Amino acid sequence: MKTSSNIKVKKIVVLPGDGIGPEVVAEAVKVLSVIAENSDLKFSFEEGIAGGVALEQQGIPLPEETLKLCQQSDAVLLGAVGDPRWDNNPSHLRPEMALLGLREKLGLFANLRPAKLYPSLIDASTLKKEVIEGIDLLVVRELTGGIYFSQPKGIKKTPNGECGFNTLSYNTFEIERIAKVAFQLALKRRRKVTSVDKANVLESSQLWRKVVTQVAKEYPTVELNHLYVDNCAMQLVRNPKQFDVILTGNLFGDILSDEAAMLTGSIGMLPSASLGEKHAMYEPVHGSAPDIAGLGVANPLATIASVAMMLRYSFEQVKQAEAIENSIASVLEQGYRTKDIMQEGCHLVSTQTMGNLVAEQVKQHLNT
Ligand code: IPM
Ligand code: MG
Repeated sequence: MKTSSNIKVKKIVVLPGDGIGPEVVAEAVKVLSVIAENSDLKFSFEEGIAGGVALEQQGIPLPEETLKLCQQSDAVLLGAVGDPRWDNNPSHLRPEMALLGLREKLGLFANLRPAKLYPSLIDASTLKKEVIEGIDLLVVRELTGGIYFSQPKGIKKTPNGECGFNTLSYNTFEIERIAKVAFQLALKRRRKVTSVDKANVLESSQLWRKVVTQVAKEYPTVELNHLYVDNCAMQLVRNPKQFDVILTGNLFGDILSDEAAMLTGSIGMLPSASLGEKHAMYEPVHGSAPDIAGLGVANPLATIASVAMMLRYSFEQVKQAEAIENSIASVLEQGYRTKDIMQEGCHLVSTQTMGNLVAEQVKQHLNT
């Protein structure tokens, strides 16, 4: 019998954001609601504004109330931010600043971006079947340091015209904590970490390599190798199956995670988790796709897979997380596709229908 003591209410802050954000988030919330109806887990949802929508309503990308809400949450679910209307704004007034502000203020230093191929989507990739069959890798990207955040930065006037500059720095502590995340995750996977840097040129990378090598000694059962970022970019398209966990800094991780995403055929499929000591945020890897916003054609699967990550990493509900992941795979096996992954002979469905199909499967998974 269920008693109130085993009912856990998890406070989720939902930031739908811009473009297709609201549509895809609605489907992920639908799936979480099905989990709540069919388990002891309970959620409360509170909505906040961030990105272009916040710029429009309040003139800033990340209002203080939104940040407060997130700081008091058990997890944040973000749709997407970005809107070409604000493209000419100065950088502190661009929608993307909401994302960077949340990462910084919530201390979300570890970004997990898994790239796993769903067998039924093998033909959607631009790469040959034999190259991508069975890929299952995880990019662990440092998210609150490196060139995105280091000081000094700016644009200054010089006698030779303007000069734009940024700084790339990493200290031992920042490298250690992200390396530990990568090694711990590798322990639960195929026990291989590839650390990616540019140590042949950059001092920050030389320290990175030294510290990662040091941390690796605490994980003797995990194999560590190092790759320069240019080589890694090449290896990802040459032989992606060699990778298990890719550990890298903020900028290299930004680039390599898009490349890894595309191996699987559609960036519309990939979830992410951004984790810190106290907070966590989950979001699809894709952007706000303003060109298709409001048309009901966006693929909600990345956002739905992001709430599976939420269940796994924030709420330790592995069974529910797997129920969602298996449901996504089943719906794809049954031939349902949104426009971005449509193939001949499949059934084209809307964002909402895709959400309903997954929600229905999750219900069945949990009740069998
Ligand atoms: C990402 C995005 C962001 C980043 C942008 C939108 C600021 O590309 O999450 O990968 O560069 O980190
Ligand atoms: Mg990116």
